[in-house]
Amino acid sequence: MKKTALVTGGTRGIGSGISKALQAAGYEVAANYNKDKATADKFHEETGISVFSWDVSNFDDCQRGIEEVCNHFGKSVDILVNNAGITKDSMLHKMPVEDWIKVINTNLNSAFFMSRLVIPTMRDQKFGRIINISSVNGVKGQVGQTNYSAAKAGIIGFTKALALECANKGITVNAVAPGYIATDMTNAIREDIREKITQGIPVGRFGNIEEIAQAVVFLASDGASFITGTTLNVNGGQYL
Ligand code: CAA
Repeated sequence: MKKTALVTGGTRGIGSGISKALQAAGYEVAANYNKDKATADKFHEETGISVFSWDVSNFDDCQRGIEEVCNHFGKSVDILVNNAGITKDSMLHKMPVEDWIKVINTNLNSAFFMSRLVIPTMRDQKFGRIINISSVNGVKGQVGQTNYSAAKAGIIGFTKALALECANKGITVNAVAPGYIATDMTNAIREDIREKITQGIPVGRFGNIEEIAQAVVFLASDGASFITGTTLNVNGGQYL
């Protein structure tokens, strides 16, 4: 029987690449999305990957969503990729309170909600992989991203603590910290700022989605069974 993988935010951006790469590696994949049904339906048509809509920043929604996914698989989730994330960039002195809360809920609290729901069965089956998507900006900070950087740094602490709890249960918990990757999210950065950022990347370019997806596939694989609690930086040599 194929292992099952659930990718949050799995129909767009980096998440779509992760879903496709896991499918190509032989997993049965489910991709979560929030509101963009048209893109999710198109993704499903192109890949055959089943898509499920819920808001990862809401615990009750996560509970319903995971139930649907497990019914669809006919078994529990073996690999969880906590990828869903948003930006609401602004300097802190101008940041609306709701933009702080929204980013923390979507990018950090979601990882707790989703993990809380899959860990009990992973403990029972003595196998699981949790892969949390952090960011170079959680590692180093970024102007205009106090909310995002706090959430993404929180993901790293969360990963380390949960890895310790799960270390003797056959479950590994790791993070991938992407640098700047060519997606809709980074396309939204002002052109002049994007150029400045590119100059700071030793490899000299933004990464591509596949370069993140392959790191996730590796951490999900049996070959990565002795790696837990780590953060894999995939960022073209930035700030190492
Ligand atoms: N490094 C150093 N200083 C910077 C900077 C940077 N990267 N970006 C902006 N600044 C400085 C500006 O030069 C300016 O300085 P002064 O006040 O001395 O002139 C000050 O910060 C304010 O900047 P802006 O004039 O741009 O302020 P704004 O209010 O018009 O815009 C902003 C603020 C929307 C945050 C804008 O600066 C911005 O978009 N910054 C980029 C944020 C960013 O990198 N986001 C990443 C999104 S992608 C992502 O998050 C994925 C991932 O994981 C990597």
